[in-house]
Amino acid sequence: MPDQGHNRQLYIQTVGCQMNLLDSELVVAALRKDGYELTDTPKCADTILFNTCSVREHAEHKIYSALGRLKYAKRGNPQKVIGVMGCMAQKDQDLIFHRAPHVDFVVGTGQLAEIPRLIKETRGLAGRVQQKAVSLGRRDGSAAKIAGSFQSYDPLRDPEMRPTPFQAFVRIMIGCDKFCTYCVVPATRGPEQSRPPSQIAQEVSVLAHQGVKEITLLGQTVNSYRHTENGRMYRLSDLLALIHDTNGIERIRFITSYPKDMTNDLLQAVRDLPKAVRYLHVPLQHGCNEILRQMKRGYTVEEYRDMMHSIRTTIPDCSVSSDFIVGFCGESEPAHQKSMDAVSEFRFKNSFIFKYSERPGTKAATMFPDDIADRIKRQRNNDMLDLQNRISEEDNAAFIGRQVRVLVEGPSKSAAKQAARNTKRASGISVATQLMGRSDCDRIVVFDGNPRLVGTTADIEVHDCTGTTLIGSIVTRDVQHSSTEMLPILS
Ligand code: SAH
Ligand code: SF4
Ligand code: F3S
Repeated sequence: MPDQGHNRQLYIQTVGCQMNLLDSELVVAALRKDGYELTDTPKCADTILFNTCSVREHAEHKIYSALGRLKYAKRGNPQKVIGVMGCMAQKDQDLIFHRAPHVDFVVGTGQLAEIPRLIKETRGLAGRVQQKAVSLGRRDGSAAKIAGSFQSYDPLRDPEMRPTPFQAFVRIMIGCDKFCTYCVVPATRGPEQSRPPSQIAQEVSVLAHQGVKEITLLGQTVNSYRHTENGRMYRLSDLLALIHDTNGIERIRFITSYPKDMTNDLLQAVRDLPKAVRYLHVPLQHGCNEILRQMKRGYTVEEYRDMMHSIRTTIPDCSVSSDFIVGFCGESEPAHQKSMDAVSEFRFKNSFIFKYSERPGTKAATMFPDDIADRIKRQRNNDMLDLQNRISEEDNAAFIGRQVRVLVEGPSKSAAKQAARNTKRASGISVATQLMGRSDCDRIVVFDGNPRLVGTTADIEVHDCTGTTLIGSIVTRDVQHSSTEMLPILS
């Protein structure tokens, strides 16, 4: 229970992927029930949590530096609790206590439900015993025992505890069994385990009831989803069909797909289900077969090309994005050029490009030397970004003069910055500002409109673009509120 007359303050820093964003959201919701409020300064916090990522060394550095800055944080407040949760907690375990002895507990991705208890216990312990709750390693027991040690954390969320009222992530599976040689995720998130479709459908329906319009289904390899319930096997396509008609849900997205598991039934489901967003994130990772083999991605460029052909023929208006790793072990200039050629050939909507970061404990770290100089990795990263941006801008230009339908998410980045600068002058009156939304094919669209449009659907006529953004103006809007709530759209 909170102290008399004062709610406890929680500071949480989250790095990593959408899975981590969802985990943080759920942990914050659980702690709010215990009387916590969020603060954005660690100094004011009674409890400080770091939700961590290990996918690249940089993400870990960031957290260890933040922990370093908190070395003396408990001096004025010995009751302060510092916890590390998530992927780095699972991967580094005792190393975290060693590098940051002021950390009170370390909680892996499979034990998030234990956080409220651990905080209470830490506070109640006189002599400060460091606590650890983590899952088994991928070789530390039978398959069932290891899987059982990674518990998916999916409590139902109270409406007022979600960051946005009309969008929500829904986890449909945890873990990964692909074991790409460079990647820590199979170790930090454990074996692939799909949640029962009935549970997912129930969660979607509760969220819809709370006003959620857009659902993003999450999984490390989301299209590998498989679950047998009541004698029936559900794939992702079946799950999409199952939740599609949930009242109130307008859009369903899913990330991230694995190229080899991109089956025709899924493409047909995206084509045939009107609420399915025409967007697939299917990382190619590299354009050279030899490197794909060393990465153990399980497909060749030719197979990826066939998959892209199926996507383009089944859903012609679908946009596709990719991830790439540059500077993987032994990547020669011609091999890098093959990745560049792939970017040119497949014309992704956008690509997330990463410099290879050797991860201790992975296959690649033991088998191949990390032999590409950082300077070269950086150069290749920049070259690929330039190429991708050129392509994105060319393809975005094709939207000029066309209309796109967007779900309005909030102020655009620049409007949000401007608003932060102007907070002192804020009058509280809604006036036109630059808003942003996403199109049916996941393109970012900015336009001027009344902030009251946030959470509604609007048609935008595109008249300009950059590589990352379509720029337009409102044509019509779906009227979803009562007339008293409708304000004229200022522009
Ligand atoms: N499950 C997703 C990706 C999860 S990690 C998938 O398989 O597509 C997100 C991205 O980080 C990966 O797609 C990859 O491009 C990148 N990544 C993973 N490990 C990395 C490493 N050791 N160094 C650099 N980038 C890495
Ligand atoms: Fe990592 Fe590969 Fe699994 Fe993606 S599919 S999470 S890159 S091991
Ligand atoms: Fe990072 Fe873990 Fe996600 S390692 S990318 S937070 S699954």
